Amino acid sequence: MKPRRVCDNVYLIGAVDWDRRLFDSLIPLPHGTSYNAYFVAGSEKNALLDTVDPSRIGTLMAQLDELPTPDYLVVHHVEQDHSGCLPELLQRCPDLTVICSEKARSMLVEHLHVDDARFRVVADGDTLSLGDKTLTFLSTPWVHWPETMCTWLEEDRLLFSCDFFGSHFATNDVFADKHQVYDGAKRYYAEIMMPFATQVLKNVEKVSAYPIRAICPSHGPVYDEPAFIIEAYRDWAGGEPQNIVCLPFVSMHGSTLLMVDHLTAALTDRGVAVERFDLTTLDAGEVASSLVHAGTVVIGTPTVLTGPHPLAMYAAVLANALRPRAKYATVIGSYGWGGKTVETLVGQMAKLKLEYLDPVLVKGLPRAEDYARLDALADTIAEKHEDLAPRNFADLTVCRTDH
Ligand SMILES: Cc1cc2nc3c(=O)[nH]c(=O)nc-3n(C[C@H](O)[C@H](O)[C@H](O)COP(=O)(O)O)c2cc1C
Repeated sequence: MKPRRVCDNVYLIGAVDWDRRLFDSLIPLPHGTSYNAYFVAGSEKNALLDTVDPSRIGTLMAQLDELPTPDYLVVHHVEQDHSGCLPELLQRCPDLTVICSEKARSMLVEHLHVDDARFRVVADGDTLSLGDKTLTFLSTPWVHWPETMCTWLEEDRLLFSCDFFGSHFATNDVFADKHQVYDGAKRYYAEIMMPFATQVLKNVEKVSAYPIRAICPSHGPVYDEPAFIIEAYRDWAGGEPQNIVCLPFVSMHGSTLLMVDHLTAALTDRGVAVERFDLTTLDAGEVASSLVHAGTVVIGTPTVLTGPHPLAMYAAVLANALRPRAKYATVIGSYGWGGKTVETLVGQMAKLKLEYLDPVLVKGLPRAEDYARLDALADTIAEKHEDLAPRNFADLTVCRTDH
């Protein structure tokens, strides 16, 4: 794929990984992904912004064959899918200077053994003139690692945001179709950014002070309607929990499933939205996405070898790591003789500030009185949710307003 024009003398390069189905050996990629680098050709100097995943180094090198030799390489983020080609690139371009934050410098030296002499460290607000184009570096820690920064290209009003605002979405369109990319961008936020929501919000406010014409992320298409993704981020990172129950569950022989079905119907009858996920076909991204706005998390699990089913444990570990803003949680499920299912799951979610509602554990198949307990749980959830925001679907019209 040849360099693709973003605007005059600014090119999207890098690789579309159409068929990749797992990222970080963890995150499902239903729509593949891309590793975006950008090339900014100034009247005096040229800058390459980020590289690509090392598996796609051939694509990047072929694209660079068609462009002038870069004088600078801006590293926004040290993670290998963006910086992994650095050693080869530094060999190919012996005069190339690496521009990055101080934290990124020390990480690159340690992680990739880059020669310390090749760096020019920049601080928040520092600028670099390429002649007729000026790059300003903005420190934006924790979107996604502590060293991350963005670059503002003043003359073209472009924000190069790296993982910030990214989406795992393979497309050869340069610019985003907001309807196509929304779910992928939300999943990406949930999986990558949600644990740092407070920092994310600060960074959203910081970058949105600039009169952005387009946001150029390192995964997924370019946003030429930046208000759409900026408002989405404000909603995801700063919005209140909503009237939604996230219900990941597993059942070996059907008893817990009967309980999950009953609770789903009871919540529906009470006007509570339910997003339920069979953990045997777990798509961690879907659960993560649901956790962005869920007011309550209910984990459905049988007791297995004295504790929760391992898949239910995984759901609890995931929730604990992603730090959603849910307010309430509980456990429902079936057991045979006894165990510590609830205590174990609660212990796994220790980082979350949750109010635990009474669990409903049932010996064997549920009976009428067990269904009544599930109805009571649904009553409690519906009552608690009266204080939460209503379920709110994405408002994509916001992108019609120029940011
Ligand atoms: C491998 C295995 C281990 C189990 N370990 C326990 C246990 O430690 N404590 C317990 O009370 N029940 C245990 N059970 C019984 C199940 O919890 C019980 O059959 C339950 O009703 C299954 O719920 P389900 O139909 O939703 O899968 C075990 C069942 C299996 C298959």
